[in-house]
Formats: sequence, C-alpha cells, structure tokens
Amino acid sequence: MLTIAISKGRILKDALPLLAEAGIEPSEDLGKTRKLIVSSKKGDVNLVIIRATDVPTFVEYGAADVGISGKDVLVEHNSDSLYEMLDLQLAKCRLMTAVIKGCELPAGKIRVATKYVSLARQYFAKKGRQVEIIKLYGSMELAPIVGLADCIVDLVDTGSTLEANNMEPQDLIMQISSRLVVNKASMKMKHEEIKELVKQLQVAVDKRC
Ligand code: ATP
Ligand code: PRP
Repeated sequence: MLTIAISKGRILKDALPLLAEAGIEPSEDLGKTRKLIVSSKKGDVNLVIIRATDVPTFVEYGAADVGISGKDVLVEHNSDSLYEMLDLQLAKCRLMTAVIKGCELPAGKIRVATKYVSLARQYFAKKGRQVEIIKLYGSMELAPIVGLADCIVDLVDTGSTLEANNMEPQDLIMQISSRLVVNKASMKMKHEEIKELVKQLQVAVDKRC
C-alpha cells in the first residue's frame, strides 16, 4: 500500500488527471467528500489531501510515502530527508520580487512581505541588501499598497494579480513547478511500488511534452 500526499487547491486539480493517466483514480469524488484519506479504485494507493505547506512534512516523517508539492514549498521547507524524483511539470509559475508600478526600492534596509521567508532572506542576502522580512500567509500584493512593505516576494503566473493591484514584477528568483517527492525509508521498503509509480508518471509527463 502506498500513501500519496497531495496539496489541495490548484496542484490537486492539475495532478488528478496526471495520476489518472498513471492508473491512479480516487474511489470517490474529491470535490464532494469531506474525507481526508481517500482510497484509489485499484485499492493499492491511498490519497491524503492536505495544505500545500504540509506536504513535505508528511513525507519527511513517513506519514505519506510520496508527495506532490510545489518546488517553492520544497525549497522553503529545506529538508534533506526527501528524494525529489520527478518534475511533474504541473502548476508552473515563477517566484519573483514585485513592486508598485514605477516605484524604485529605497536605499538601505527594505521591508519585504512574503510567505517565503527563508527563500527571500537568502535571495536578498546574495544581493547584499539588508531586509526586514514580514511573514504573510496570503494576499501579499496588498502589503505595498497599504504601506506594510516596499516589495513582495511571491508567485507570478499570468501576472494578472499584480496588474490588478497596480504592481509589476521585477527579478526572477526561481522557476516553479510541482515535483514528486519520496520518503527515504519508503524508497527502501517499498522500492518496487515506488519505482513503478515513478515510471508510470514519467510516461504520463512525457506524453504531454
Ligand atoms: P496554503 O493552503 O498552504 O496556503 P496555497 O493557498 O498557496 O497553500 P495554492 O494557491 O493552491 O495553495 O498553491 C499551491 C502551489 O501551487 C504553490 O505552492 C505553487 O507551487 C503553485 N502555485 C501557486 N500559485 C500559482 C499560480 N498562480 N500559478 C501556477 N501555480 C501556482
Ligand atoms: C497565487 C500567488 C499570486 C497569484 C499569481 O495566489 O500568490 O497571488 O497566484 O497568479 P497570477 O500571476 O496568474 O495572477 P493564489 O491564487 O494561490 O492566492 P493566495 O496565495 O493569496 O492564497
């Protein structure tokens, strides 16, 4: 039996068709059920549907054998007890800095609003900029508008959220997509099942490219 942890929200939406191509389909409608553990039709896989930021934690501790998580969340989590096996090419976007349109960053220490505290700290340290990081859990684009921060570090896809809030992207920090991660112990104990899953998903990903 394999347990796969998946971020609810947009990764789940994108991952379900890919998992189906790899032969894994939930036994009930995830849009309707309130269950957090759902079995699959074949019966040898369970799906655990959780918050995006919790996926690496579940996999790291072996509560799930395998996880599907954004690269942003994985880098921010920064664990060396996970194997990153596959780029699933889902939920692609960019981690960027952004400012209010036409605004230059002030000299000296700047305030940065983000949920990616560690990534943002590392990025600005490399640039030699002193920063005060303000941790937020969402709606980062609001922070510069209300004077909470000089800039943000957040995900950008179409750019429409920035545009709608009179902001513009500045520097690219990292390209993001969803990855398949595996618990190190599960990799040893359930090697055959995991190898098969990775193979099937690789085929499904390649078909789409
Ligand atoms: P949480 O519920 O833990 O706060 P969240 O609200 O950030 O998570 P989602 O917005 O569904 O959850 O994002 C989950 C993942 O999807 C992100 O970690 C990222 O990898 C990817 N993602 C987020 N925003 C976008 C976007 N606009 N376009 C494409 N992929 C995105
Ligand atoms: C994500 C991200 C941006 C937006 C970018 O937000 O935090 O706000 O998507 O996408 P766009 O460039 O296509 O507009 P999400 O919708 O997940 O909301 P939240 O992070 O504020 O919960």
